[in-house]
Amino acid sequence: MSKIRTAIAGFGFMGHIHAGTIQSFPEMELTAVCDTNPAQLRDAPEGIKVFQTVDAMLKNANFDLVIIAAPNPSHEEITVKCAKAKKHILCEKPAALSVEQFDRMTKVCGENGVLFTIHQQRRWDKDYRIMKEVYDKKLTGDVYVIKSQFYGVNGNMHDWHVYLEMGGGMLYDWGVHLIDQMLDMVDSKIVSLYADIRNVINEKVDDYFKIIFKFANGILAEIELGTYYLTPKRAWFIGGNKGSAYIDGFAGEGKIVRTKHLLENVPGKITMTAAGPTRSFGPPEPGLLVEEELPLVEVSHRDYFVHLLKAIQGNGELVVKNDQVRRVLRVMDAARESARTGNAIQFEHNEEEDK
Ligand SMILES: NC(=O)c1ccc[n+]([C@@H]2O[C@H](COP(=O)([O-])OP(=O)(O)OC[C@H]3O[C@@H](n4cnc5c(N)ncnc54)[C@H](O)[C@@H]3O)[C@@H](O)[C@H]2O)c1
Repeated sequence: MSKIRTAIAGFGFMGHIHAGTIQSFPEMELTAVCDTNPAQLRDAPEGIKVFQTVDAMLKNANFDLVIIAAPNPSHEEITVKCAKAKKHILCEKPAALSVEQFDRMTKVCGENGVLFTIHQQRRWDKDYRIMKEVYDKKLTGDVYVIKSQFYGVNGNMHDWHVYLEMGGGMLYDWGVHLIDQMLDMVDSKIVSLYADIRNVINEKVDDYFKIIFKFANGILAEIELGTYYLTPKRAWFIGGNKGSAYIDGFAGEGKIVRTKHLLENVPGKITMTAAGPTRSFGPPEPGLLVEEELPLVEVSHRDYFVHLLKAIQGNGELVVKNDQVRRVLRVMDAARESARTGNAIQFEHNEEEDK
């Protein structure tokens, strides 16, 4: 089978990463890159064509697939041009700055019969996949709460990320991935969501957000991100009626914790703690808590491309579907509305219908 000739539009941070990925797949061939800033093209791999505009690249280079890795506001224009030129499209996230914009992009791709997909590759993050397995296999019983937390220290945004109109800020940036993971994990409609979005040290764009989801299956889920939290952490918590599971770190280090036996009408015992005398929050009796290993999961972001290549060759389906991408964008809109109004937003569904 002939190689999938691939071009990259936007040769900055992600463009370079995609070039490396393309070159690592024998089924792909990097044929061209373009970037409006010629300085970015200086280290383009030898032998490939370089251009300063998408138009010039479309006119003068041969390719089947384009990877759009330019800043967010340019995604629509580049998608429209490439779709009309019958190129398959892998577009960076956030796909678009609004649901309406995304709908226009999917429409033009549909009309021109080209594949269109978004790079939401963090579905293949190890920490997420482990927790999804805990959830899918009910390893903590019936789940009632899920937390996804990501805290950092480099609170300042950089380059175009400091402008909201450029699609800057953490909700557009990491929010897409964290929301996508949560919606991919919890197989239920959202009844309502409440969000707070803040500018802690950035003037124009958000650097902190918290979104709380109430799902129709009863699960309460929370995503919290802060870039100026100063206590770095990437953590998950899943609480169920047969145990808890936690992870701290992208490598997926954590445990499942259970009680040795089901706790029923435990006799109240008063213990003196730093919090004062307590019956409910004293230390556990020795041996009550037992720890188990989390499931072993081997994943890689390369898996995103494996599926993409199969879909282009007609041997498989994309995993990241456009209706899921659209749902994430809708959640981001609702989160902004909730943050603006201070109200919880009813979403997708009347809770009673799905019980
Ligand atoms: N999926 C991920 O994990 C991930 C991670 C980082 C960034 N991204 C996304 O990748 C995209 C690019 O982000 P980045 O961090 O690489 O930005 P960047 O600023 O490092 O690179 C963008 C490049 O695009 C060029 N450019 C601007 N307008 C252009 C146009 N119209 N045509 C061609 N080139 C143009 C710029 O000169 C720059 O070199 C964004 O959509 C971002 O959200 C995704």
